[in-house]
Amino acid sequence: MTGVHACEGLVLGIESSCDETAAALVRGGREILADVVFSQVQEHAHWGGVVPEIAGRGHLRDILPAIQGCLSLANISCLEVDAIAVTSQPGLLGSLFIGTTAAKALAWSWKKPLIAVHHIEAHAYAALMSADEWEFPYVTLIASGGHTSLYQSNSPTEHQLLGRTRDDAAGEALDKAASMLGLGYPGGPAIQNAAANGNPKAFPFKRPLLSPDSLDFSFSGLKTALLYKLKGPGGKKTDPTLAESVDLAGMAASFEAAVMDTLAKKCLRACAQKDIPRILVGGGVARNQRLRDILPEQAEAVGVKVTFAKPEHCTDNAVMIAGLGHALWKSGMMAELDFQVSATG
Ligand code: KG4
Ligand code: ZN
Repeated sequence: MTGVHACEGLVLGIESSCDETAAALVRGGREILADVVFSQVQEHAHWGGVVPEIAGRGHLRDILPAIQGCLSLANISCLEVDAIAVTSQPGLLGSLFIGTTAAKALAWSWKKPLIAVHHIEAHAYAALMSADEWEFPYVTLIASGGHTSLYQSNSPTEHQLLGRTRDDAAGEALDKAASMLGLGYPGGPAIQNAAANGNPKAFPFKRPLLSPDSLDFSFSGLKTALLYKLKGPGGKKTDPTLAESVDLAGMAASFEAAVMDTLAKKCLRACAQKDIPRILVGGGVARNQRLRDILPEQAEAVGVKVTFAKPEHCTDNAVMIAGLGHALWKSGMMAELDFQVSATG
């Protein structure tokens, strides 16, 4: 399939699967009229990760301001909205309930079609939104705090799983590493900042590529390797956060390089196995500057083109939900008012 959806249709997207409450208005799956994100990052930072109870309460507080803010920013009345799309899976159940309940109530009272959107597929759509032309199939990497998977994407709505992490997601590994290094939460941006002046070869971390054909990932071993490097020879230091004695910038840069090299190598391995010369990259980790530098460079050397989602649409947002919602709606894939949410994909 070549070309981009040109059909009109104004979709209100709603996202509340984790710790961002977001609403967006997108016309024709591409033109962004409003993009509102309320992040709870500061509320979870103290705990070093997302606390489901706090997330649910935050969504309840922010969901209507996000939707109302969106409509007033775009100066759009509810009468002009053609359909409502909402994340239905995967995510924290208590968080998903808030967004989907709001979407169901609006769809019922405004008498609009309702569309249930898969969050990971929406991250892939965010990358498609950066492409001038669509040329399926793609190898798609989605790397975030909760997921790290490779897909063969045959259309905006059809993604075939090629490989997934067997333990930690890439973002989760970065978040845990940052915590060990005392760099704070969320770990991805913190590691990137700390790594800016560090030597990525300062500490030799192995790249976990698994068996030669495998398209799965495994990041937990890297995390353990970091822990033992911090504990010193013989693992004697008892407090793993005691990172003062190490070259912090070098450690952050070396850890970041190991994660990003692994992601890049697996993408190119998938391209070679499937004979697909195009890659889409989305999810929070796709914001990483090192990945945005090395993957296109390595890909170009073997004739592969890489398209990243825009940085602001790598992390959770509702533009990608409205965008994919539009594609699903145009394919007639609407949801009933009593659809269920699911914590898993
Ligand atoms: O997609 P996202 O907002 O939420 C999930 O669906 O999980 O991704 C959040 C993840 C976090 O683990 C965060 O540390 C990571 O994305 N992240 C980054 C960067 N910005 C956010 N990782 C590496 N480099 C970044 N600049
Ligand atoms: Zn996400």
